[in-house]
This record gives sequence, structure tokens and C-alpha cells, in this order.
Amino acid sequence: MTTEREQWRTRRGFLFAAIGSAIGLGNIWRFSYMTYTNGGAAFLIPYIFALVTAGIPILILEFGLGHRMGAAAPLAFRRIHQRWEILGWWPIIFIMLGIQLYYTVIIGWCVDYLAYSVRLAWGTDANAFFFKQFLQLSAGPWEVGKPVGLIVLGVAIVWAANWLICTKGIQKGVERACQVFMPLLFILITLLIVRGFTLPGAKQGLLWYLKPDFSRLTDLGVWRSAYSQTFFSLSIAFGIMITYASYLPRRSDITGSAIITAFSDAGFSIFAGLAVFTTLGFMAHTSGLPFEKVVTEGIGLAFVAYPRAINAMPYLPAVFGVAFFLALILAGLSSSVSILEAFATSLMDEYGIGRRLTITLSCLGGFFLSLIFTTRGGLFWLDIVDHYILQYGLVVVGLLECLVVGWVLGADTLRHHVNSTSVIQIGRVWDFCVKYLTPAILGFILVGTLIEEIRAPYGGYPRAATLLIGVGWLAATLLVAWFITTRRKGLDVEHLLEGL
Ligand code: PFF
Repeated sequence: MTTEREQWRTRRGFLFAAIGSAIGLGNIWRFSYMTYTNGGAAFLIPYIFALVTAGIPILILEFGLGHRMGAAAPLAFRRIHQRWEILGWWPIIFIMLGIQLYYTVIIGWCVDYLAYSVRLAWGTDANAFFFKQFLQLSAGPWEVGKPVGLIVLGVAIVWAANWLICTKGIQKGVERACQVFMPLLFILITLLIVRGFTLPGAKQGLLWYLKPDFSRLTDLGVWRSAYSQTFFSLSIAFGIMITYASYLPRRSDITGSAIITAFSDAGFSIFAGLAVFTTLGFMAHTSGLPFEKVVTEGIGLAFVAYPRAINAMPYLPAVFGVAFFLALILAGLSSSVSILEAFATSLMDEYGIGRRLTITLSCLGGFFLSLIFTTRGGLFWLDIVDHYILQYGLVVVGLLECLVVGWVLGADTLRHHVNSTSVIQIGRVWDFCVKYLTPAILGFILVGTLIEEIRAPYGGYPRAATLLIGVGWLAATLLVAWFITTRRKGLDVEHLLEGL
């Protein structure tokens, strides 16, 4: 492309965008539940350990690589060696044609629930409302059914918002949006925490959230959860941070930015957990139910437990409903924008197509593909596809990324580059993490997951469903990535022949 590559306007703008990608639905509903089930405050030990040994080193690697190569993931890896281009394409494809398709659907549910909050439309039985009336959930993954109208509407709004932000470009779109979204999100969560702390039962909720159980630290599963949470939460091994860093100006503090991003993300998770658990403590207090019955994972937490708590609030319940779902929408949107941006930049880098056209086609295509997750069987599909992409795609990409940068490009080469432009200087210990430690840990996680998988299919689904939907989906994204890479080589040959 001959036009000059756009850049972030300010360092703060870049940081807000990177933090916006990292902070997402995962921080609000995934982290707090993980902490609760994995030993309370004791979980912070493996979590911080994972952050320091894998999260921050890989974030430095991705920021450094994007900055040095000045390109999104596919081209960045091609510049290391043509053979590795696919390692750039695969995550870009599986986040856009996988994670993004259902992530936008969940944000779409939040849009609908934002409207429901105004009149507490879920009524007294939030559970039945969500699964029966709203999702119209079918009996299993093979009973797909038709898309549900209201959900489709919510999803269309989310894709339209993505389109609006990304067509405006890096400075006027992503940077500006994140500079508004992130502070607003922080204010909303603070409001929810203050409300949570003033409710009866809050203290009990906090005790459940944080009471340390150090005996859990001998459980390897707890350490595995800490690593997978770090990767998902920081949006690493997705090709996103490489893309965002490719828009950095030449003189940029890479290491400082990585550390700020990582700690903001972790800090926000702990902070959001306070809002969630004080409110759940209140729910247990008013309903008289035991806490284990009140607390649920992810989707159940946001769309069942929280609405129940809102019902029980003594003053202005609708305001807290709106604040909660708006917080989820803002957190989710700034993450989904980063996925779209990483995908579109890769296409723009590759084919030299204009931004507007690329984003428009991506959003239209994305919206139609999202429809599968808006059907009556959509929740099952979402659950299965999510599991396979995160547990396998993400871990394999993270592992290979470390090995390719560590051994092919050379960890020391990238370290010198990073140090030449950063305030904080990283030492050889970083090389050690990238070349040995992180790949070893990821390899260990992969083997553990595989063994579990062989013992019993994920989530109690029929084996055929996990294989066809989960493995099949992941394999299809790899095929698309392979197709793009080999076709490009084909095009190059044609080009060469033309020149002769
Ligand atoms: N980091 C986001 C979260 O914690 O919710 C999730 C996410 C963002 C996942 C971007 C994947 C991604 F590409």
C-alpha cells in the first residue's frame, strides 16, 4: 500500500484501546467466578504468577513484534519467515469467524437486557425468563431452530456499532471510542461497588469471594485455570495486540505499555469482582438460599443471578440494572472492536483494499454468520465452539508464537528492539520465558486438557456434537487460514510469471 499507515494520536489513546480489548466480559463474569471456585484470595497467587511468567512476557512479545514489523499478525509473521504466515492468519480467522460471532451475540443479549432493565421485564422467575422466554432454548445442539427475532435485533445493533467505530479509523474511531468507553465503564463499576457495599449481606459475599483456601494451590487444575484466564483476559495469542502495536509511532515505550495494560486488566478484574460478589451476598441474604445456589458461572451470573438481585434492590432497581448491562456492553464492545480491527487490518495489509469497504463487508458477513448463535440451539453451539477455540486454538497459537519468535526470529533480536525504544529495559530472563518457560507451561496445559477430553467429552455433550461442532469449527478456521496463505503464494507466482 502506498498510503501512509495510520498511527495512534496519543500514547494514552493506544493504552485505552489495548486495555479496552483486554477488559471485556471475561473480567466481569469469568474472573470473579474463577476466584471463587479456585481458592478465593489464594487464587491470586497463581494468577499473578501466570501474569508475570506468561501474560506480561507475551504482551511484550506481541507489542514488540507488531511495532517492529509495522503490520498485523499475518504480515508480521511472514516477515519472520514466509512459512509462518499461517500462524498470523489462524488466530485472526478463529477470533473473527469464531469468538467474534458469539461474543457479539452475548453483547446483543445485553442490549436486550438493557431495555428489559427499565421495567424489570424478567419478572419474578429470572431463570425461566432467560432460558425459556428469551433464548427459547431447544433440547440440545442438534435442534437448532430458527433465529430468535429480538436477539437478532440486539446483534444487529452491536454489529452496527462495530461498523460505526471501525469505519472511522484508528484515531477517530477506535481511539476515540475507547477513550470514552473505558472511563465510563470504570464509573459504572464504581457505582455498582458502592451500591453493593451498602447492601445487607455484602460482607458475607466478600468473604465467599476472597476467603483464602491455600490448600487449593496444590491442585494443578487451579494453575491451569490461572493461565487460561490470563490469556483470555489479556487478549493475547489472538493476533490483536500485534495489530494494535503496528499502529504505534516509531518511538514508543513498549515494555511500559505492556505492564500498564496487564496490571490495569488484572486490577479491573479484582475490582469488578467486588461489585459482583457484594451483590450476590445480598441475594443470598434476602433469598435465604445457600451461597452455592446463588453463584453461577458466566451467563447464569449475568442473566439470572444479577437480575434476581436487581429485583430485590430496595431503591431504584432499574438504575442498577441499566448500569450493570451498560457496563457489560461497553466492556464487550471495546473488545469486539479490537477483533474486527485485527481482522480488517490483516485484510487491508494483505490485499490493499480500503478501510470502509473492508469493514463493511466484514460486518455484513459477520452479522449473517452470527445468526447461528441466535437460534434456539445457539447457546449450545456457543458453549462448544468457545471451549474448543479457547482451550486448543489459543493455547496452540500461544505456544507456537513463543517458539517462532524465541527461536526463529530470535528472542534477543526482539528484546534489543524493545529495549531500544522502551524506558524499562528487559533482561535475559525474558528470553528464558519466551524460549522455554511459557512454551513448557502451555504444552503442559494442552496435554492436561487433552487427557480430560479423552476421559469424557466436554460439558456432557454427545461426542459427535463436540467433534463436529467444536473440532469441526476449529478445523474449518485452520482450513480458511491455510487457503488464504497458499492462495497468496499462488498469486505471487502468477505475479512473478507476469514479470518474466
Ligand atoms: N479479553 C476479553 C475479555 O476478557 O472478555 C475477551 C476477548 C477479547 C477475547 C478479544 C478475544 C479477543 F480476541
